[in-house]
Amino acid sequence: MRQRPSNREEVVVASAWEHFERTLISAQGELVGSVAALEHPRLSGEANYGEVFLRDNVPVMLLLLLQGRTSTVRHFLSVCLDLQSSSYQTRGVFPTSFVESNGELIADYGQRSIGRITSVDASLWWPVLCWLYVQRSNDRQFAASQQVQRGIQLLLDLVLHPSFEGTPVLFVPDCAFMIDRPMDVWGAPLEVEVLLYGCLRSCCHLMEVAQQHHDSRLLEQRLVLTRQWLHDLRAFLLKHYWVTSKTVQVLRRRPTEQYGEHQHENEFNVQPQVIPPWLQDWLNKRGGYLIGNMRTGRPDFRFYSLGNSLASLFGLLAAPQQRALFRLVLHNRNHLMAQMPMRICHPPMENEEWRDKTGSDPKNWPWSYHNGGHWPSLLWSFGGAALLHRHRNHQSDTVLADQLQGLLEECYRCQLNTLPRQQWAEYFDGPTGSWVGQQARTYQTWTIAGFLLMHHLLRVNPADVSLLDIDAAPPGP
Ligand code: GLC
Repeated sequence: MRQRPSNREEVVVASAWEHFERTLISAQGELVGSVAALEHPRLSGEANYGEVFLRDNVPVMLLLLLQGRTSTVRHFLSVCLDLQSSSYQTRGVFPTSFVESNGELIADYGQRSIGRITSVDASLWWPVLCWLYVQRSNDRQFAASQQVQRGIQLLLDLVLHPSFEGTPVLFVPDCAFMIDRPMDVWGAPLEVEVLLYGCLRSCCHLMEVAQQHHDSRLLEQRLVLTRQWLHDLRAFLLKHYWVTSKTVQVLRRRPTEQYGEHQHENEFNVQPQVIPPWLQDWLNKRGGYLIGNMRTGRPDFRFYSLGNSLASLFGLLAAPQQRALFRLVLHNRNHLMAQMPMRICHPPMENEEWRDKTGSDPKNWPWSYHNGGHWPSLLWSFGGAALLHRHRNHQSDTVLADQLQGLLEECYRCQLNTLPRQQWAEYFDGPTGSWVGQQARTYQTWTIAGFLLMHHLLRVNPADVSLLDIDAAPPGP
């Protein structure tokens, strides 16, 4: 992946900003956020890339915050809040996407999407974005407002409730997050659980602001419950999802068929044969990562980039674990970064597995799209996690820090050189990620916004990485 420095950098960055401006659209007379893609000629009229997706707008809102355009972010947050579902069976759910048509806002909660899938991540992202906005703008009035606090309570009712399993994870159907086509990611997929962690942490911060405004016993009870849930969720994920070379060796020699409350070595009755051999080289000596899912007898050992990056960014992983994750990415850079950072999940499902688990989905062909494809929009979260780690732990491991910095530089330059030529494509295919995605949209907003975020953090103001820190010191009264 050796890349030469580009002397066209300024030109590319300026045109990326122009494209970015064109993605922004208005609702209720004010800018509200970005459409998912600018040009979708083959599918225009059929697909929903002209809508404002909550998840695609995450890097957009971060960029707007960096630019000081806080009122647009606030408008986006308010519009999403107005669209939070109030119908009995979905109360508290935020829409996957929305669009204004003839002066009316139309939201999609899954009833219009391909496959009529449910998305869970949009609802979990909202409090995170809201808290990042409050931290940056110091708009404590908004945080404490009845509108925001009511939205949080509705959302907490939806996610913190008794369940049949009595575990702190949120159970979801297949396709409930960025991976929104069948990929065998039902149950407790990493990305959803990590977002739940970020969501609950952000909700706590937002409730604390309200509590400072007017002390309430109910709110205090809610805070105690949410903090406890957070603690249990983190412990659960670190216990059942975190793997290193050491832990795998323990897993391989565990007893099976354990019955009874006091037998804790193999609660999910995982047979040692399901541990895939590729893990040996993948983990190397000092690497670690969170696996994709834990289910009775059938853990998902695939590596998911976004869930792992966010676990680092949100501080779910402790600093030494974050470093193990960075070592793992460095060790597997030919897979994960290759010609287009970065791969969404590894390894892809092939042959019968692809046929059975995706329902023969031609879009999720091996090495394509969600099934091992490369998404430029994923780089900012990994880059943000690495840069935030350095910001928080100055002297920790300077050799690793230098290697990581080198990796990020290379990844950034790779995008700088390739993306404008490939019209800011949505995703790339193949084991090296060098082919533009077979059905990729062009001028995809989060491709453009993600690149601009990396540019800002590497070239303009590295200290701004604190924007991404959900535990930066809370703003003063
Ligand atoms: C595709 C992606 C999804 C994204 C949407 C809009 O459906 O799988 O993650 O939000 O396109 O870009």
